Amino acid sequence: MEIVRTIREMQTRAEGLRRAGKTISIVPTMGSLHDGHVSLIKLAAEGSDEVVTTVFVNPTQFGPNEDYEHYPRDIKRDEEIAAQSGSDVLFCPEVGEMYREGYRTYVVVDDLSRVLEGSVRPAHFRGVSTVVLKLFNIVKPHIAVFGQKDVQQVAIIKRMVRDLDLEVQVVVGPIVRENDGLAISSRNAYLTPDERKRATALYRSLQQAEVAVRSGERNVREIGRKVRAVLADGSPDAVDYVAFVDPETFQERERVEPPAILLALAVRFGRTRLIDNSIIPVNETP
Ligand code: PAJ
Repeated sequence: MEIVRTIREMQTRAEGLRRAGKTISIVPTMGSLHDGHVSLIKLAAEGSDEVVTTVFVNPTQFGPNEDYEHYPRDIKRDEEIAAQSGSDVLFCPEVGEMYREGYRTYVVVDDLSRVLEGSVRPAHFRGVSTVVLKLFNIVKPHIAVFGQKDVQQVAIIKRMVRDLDLEVQVVVGPIVRENDGLAISSRNAYLTPDERKRATALYRSLQQAEVAVRSGERNVREIGRKVRAVLADGSPDAVDYVAFVDPETFQERERVEPPAILLALAVRFGRTRLIDNSIIPVNETP
């Protein structure tokens, strides 16, 4: 696997590949690679000739009181995992390479970036859409692979691709979970053993909602009550939101309607904030 650190070198390499008729896929990450990332790299490798995994802890998507400084970094380990998973290139630029002195340009996907995660983390998605557009311009991918774990991020990237006429196909990989259901995340490492146990309430609450919808419940408030009851089992320190929204527009839904509803959760254990979600299929009721 090739390690590339500069924008110029990455662009030159991408142009060469494109001229040779190769399809390029990108898997953007902030490193600290885990099985969730691995699943995306493998998915990318199935559908393209060249997989470029990017590792960049993007400062513009962290709020002033968030964990930018403490975000786990281990590039040697990331190199090994990316190579083993089938990545052909690891693009890992320095901050000064991505945001040169005097950097002033941002991309904002309106509305979608203000709700849910955006309401708690105001500049977060502006940072995400900006860095992802930059990465697209640097890596020149045909395919970009993202995880459903960050379902709002996926919706925002898809909207940006559509609105800005980007020639990139967005592919979404399913959420990879630990054996007890907790969605794998780099931030799980922050949990104390006790919080880690309690955090299984997130997945159990999603399952509870899936069962309720499957058995015909269509009242969002009723399902919300059940979800909150299961979450309460884990004694979270805060529940930021339990939201039932349209999977594409992210507008709040009052009733569960076909073809699907997105249930998104954000919960805090101690100082660790966890998110999870489920896109629940909804049948027509007779
Ligand atoms: P990061 O949190 O490192 O995640 C990189 C990719 O891995 C994202 O597409 C995310 O949704 C996916 N992912 C994380 N946990 C997953 C899991 N348990 N199962 C499946 N996929 C999972 O998301 C970011 O980085 C950044 O915002 C980025 C897009 C790189 C822009 O900086």
